[in-house]
Parts: sequence; C-alpha cells; structure tokens
Amino acid sequence: MITPVIRPRRLRSTPALRRLASEIRLHPSELVLPMFVREGNGDPLPIQSMPGVVQHTIDSARRAVTEAAEAGIGGVMLFGVPAVRDAVGSGATDPDGILNAATRALAAEVGDALVVQTDLCLDEFTDHGHCGLLAVDGSVDNDSTLERYCEMALVQAASGSQLLGLSGMMDGQVAAVRRALDLNGYVDTAVLAYSAKYASAFYGPFRDAVESTLEGDRRSYQLDPANRREGVREALLDIQEGADVVMVKPAGSYLDVLAEVAAVSAIPVWAYQVSGEYAMIEAAAAHGWIDRRRAVEESVLSIRRAGADAVLTYWAVELATWLNERQ
Ligand code: PBG
Repeated sequence: MITPVIRPRRLRSTPALRRLASEIRLHPSELVLPMFVREGNGDPLPIQSMPGVVQHTIDSARRAVTEAAEAGIGGVMLFGVPAVRDAVGSGATDPDGILNAATRALAAEVGDALVVQTDLCLDEFTDHGHCGLLAVDGSVDNDSTLERYCEMALVQAASGSQLLGLSGMMDGQVAAVRRALDLNGYVDTAVLAYSAKYASAFYGPFRDAVESTLEGDRRSYQLDPANRREGVREALLDIQEGADVVMVKPAGSYLDVLAEVAAVSAIPVWAYQVSGEYAMIEAAAAHGWIDRRRAVEESVLSIRRAGADAVLTYWAVELATWLNERQ
C-alpha cells in the first residue's frame, strides 16, 4: 500500500471545506451587462446569433436596467443601433442620437444604483462600418478619428455616461479624450480603455447585434491575435495616457494576456467576454452538449481567476441572480 504524506484532496473533501478554500468567488457587483439599444419604437428585437439577447428600445432598456440594478450588477455598457449611418458617423455626436438619448434615459432611470457606461467608437454609426474615418485611399485615418472621438466624449459625458469605453483602437485615443474631457470640465468622467482589443472572429455575433455594415476586417487597427507582448504594451500606454481602467478583449482566448496585464497594472483590469464566447456556450448548451449554468459560471470564474477585477458579460444579470440565490 502506498500512502502519500501530502494530500491536496483533503481540502476538497466536503462542500464546507471547498467553500472555505475557494481562492476567489464571484459577486454581482463586478459584472457589467452590455446592452444594445436600437432607434425607433415597437418591441425589442431578438438577435439571432445571441439567443436571449435583444436589441432594446429605450423603453424596454429602461425596464432591463431596473432589473439589472435589482440584481445588483455593477453597471451596463450601452451600444447604439442607429436607423441611419453616414461616412463620419454623425449619429454618434448628435445629442438626440440613439446612444446619447438612451444614456440620458437610463442614467435618469437608475440614478446611482449602477454605473451607466457607453461605447465610444464610430463603427455603429458609420456607413462603411469601420471604427474611424476613412482617408481617401480607404485606410482608417487615426488622427482625424481622434477629433471625432473627442466630440463623442463630450456628448456622451453631457448625456450622463460615467465611464467612456474607448473601443476604437486608435493610437493616442485615451490621451486625446482625457484632455478634451478635462478642458471642458468633465474631470470626473472616467475612461475605460479597451487596451488590448484583438482582431477576433469571436466578435461575429456582435456584428449581427449592431447590424454592422463592415466589409473586410479591422486588422489594421485591432491587435494581432499572435501578439501577447503587444497587448501588455498597449495597456501600459493607456495607463500612461490617463486611463482609469484597462481592458482585455476577448477574454476566454486571451487569459494569458489578461494575467500579464493584471500583473503589471496599477489600475483596475477588466475583461470582455464577447458575443462569440456567449454564442458558443449557448449553442452547445442548446444541443444538450454541456451544462449551461456550470459552463457560464466556470467561464466567468476563469476570467476572474486570470486577473480581471470585473467582467463584461451578456450573462451578467442571470449570473447575478444565481449568485444572489446562493447567499
Ligand atoms: C466596436 C466594438 C465591437 C465589440 C465591442 N465594441 C466590435 C468590433 O470591434 O468588431 C464586440 C463585442 C462583442 O463581440 O461582444 N465598437
């Protein structure tokens, strides 16, 4: 008979021991729900590749944020789906454009119960679907795009967004937006930098969700999935430029980047569990191939374990409800 002296299984032997020995645990307050709000009235529209997620109207979004606040999640991240798009994304800086109108309505609805955040990027508003302005040769022009981002920042801040999610991956975007906010008195509006945002196939369902018109890809501005060091560099640059939070995106396939950014960052590090990550688990669960609830919990737990302080996830409210039941 072989009798080991060291027995790690001891701490796994009962539910009470496992609970006490758990290194991290999930809490509703560290979950953020991304929400799509579409221009126009009528009913919320289902998004085919994201079962359970809808394009809200402002009215249905109001009810959804109230429910989100009751579940105790930390915040919502708003994306607008405009009725009309043009070359410069005019809808993004129109105070009555869908994203800004939704921000005003939802900020008024929830008050301080959770943090209302906005996506600061042009892709939902441009007819070509790119995240910035196009130069005559068709390339995405970094510096003129920065001016549009600064204009967007001021309108979003004025609409009541407390945290601006800079997801466009233009160089210098954090510094430019921070400066514009400060010069205009929005010193308390915070900046969430999508620092390490990779050019990923896992954004596929999102493009359905916002009815993206993009042809081609975003590889000339989003990061190459092969590059880990570059992801860390982008995060360090954004911290230098004045970001309040840095983010890694997608989450599940980039846990190594997340862990490395978390190890060097002096500011909060978040991760975005994106539409494709959501769709994969939903699809497998719908076939009965995996246990949906366990897979959802494990996927978010893994992102936290890798070093994320908070997680953007389409399951935020449902997961929070499960966590609340348990207490
Ligand atoms: C760009 C943006 C994207 C996502 C969030 N912000 C799409 C893209 O870069 O193509 C993707 C989110 C997801 O897939 O859930 N504004």
